[in-house]
Amino acid sequence: MVEENMRRKLIVGNWKMHGSTDQISQLLEEIESGSEQLLEDIEICVCPTYLHLGLAFDLLASKSGAGRGQIKLGAQNVHVEPAGAFTGEVSAQMLAEYGVSYVIVGHSERRQFFAESDQFIAEKFRAAQACRLTPILCVGESLDQRQDNETERVVLNQLDAVIAAAGIAAMKEAVIAYEPVWAIGTGETATPAQAQQVHRTLREHLDRLDSVIAKAIRIIYGGSVNAANAKELFSQPDVDGGLVGGASLEAEEFISICKSTD
Ligand code: 13P
Repeated sequence: MVEENMRRKLIVGNWKMHGSTDQISQLLEEIESGSEQLLEDIEICVCPTYLHLGLAFDLLASKSGAGRGQIKLGAQNVHVEPAGAFTGEVSAQMLAEYGVSYVIVGHSERRQFFAESDQFIAEKFRAAQACRLTPILCVGESLDQRQDNETERVVLNQLDAVIAAAGIAAMKEAVIAYEPVWAIGTGETATPAQAQQVHRTLREHLDRLDSVIAKAIRIIYGGSVNAANAKELFSQPDVDGGLVGGASLEAEEFISICKSTD
């Protein structure tokens, strides 16, 4: 049995392929001023496109006072190699230079639209960690898989592929995001009980391999999180925050989601 633990809540905004420079500047400015008080208790991360990471980095650097908690930067993707002839790609080392702390790997949109395999995702996970970036490993089942009672098998297989490549110790510096594919961008959210059940399954699986890691690792939920449903989701004992898509593009909505953590 895995006991409850004082894991710091993490709210991540995945901005996907959205935003102009003006929109990104305004959004970040508003999130910064609205979240100042929150950063003592929770961790907030935003993931703009590669193109906007530099802008976001400069904006955050210009605002941060000494000792104050800071909004973290995350990348939506990373390449497995440190450098080379890989047209269009960006390495973990390059991301680290731009102050990036987190990298999303294994998002269902990349699995689906860019045919990323479990093995390739595991390589990205390792490449990120090699440059001290914390991977946010996304796992999740499709609607068909849920209806066929395959949820547990699917998410554990996705997790095990990474553990097989990187080792269980690597999960110490990682975050897991449970994102049921049927809940992404659909307005349909997993019920708090459904989310809790999968999060618990993931944690118990880790507990069999390393109980210290299982207690400490943050497992966040993603899939149509909004200001109205966040509080109940985040109050589940194994839900340690959220990976927010659409609702993170609205500063007020996103801040309200961040406030739903207490
Ligand atoms: P939505 O919040 O828009 O459903 O997206 C979730 C997601 O994919 C976050 O990575």
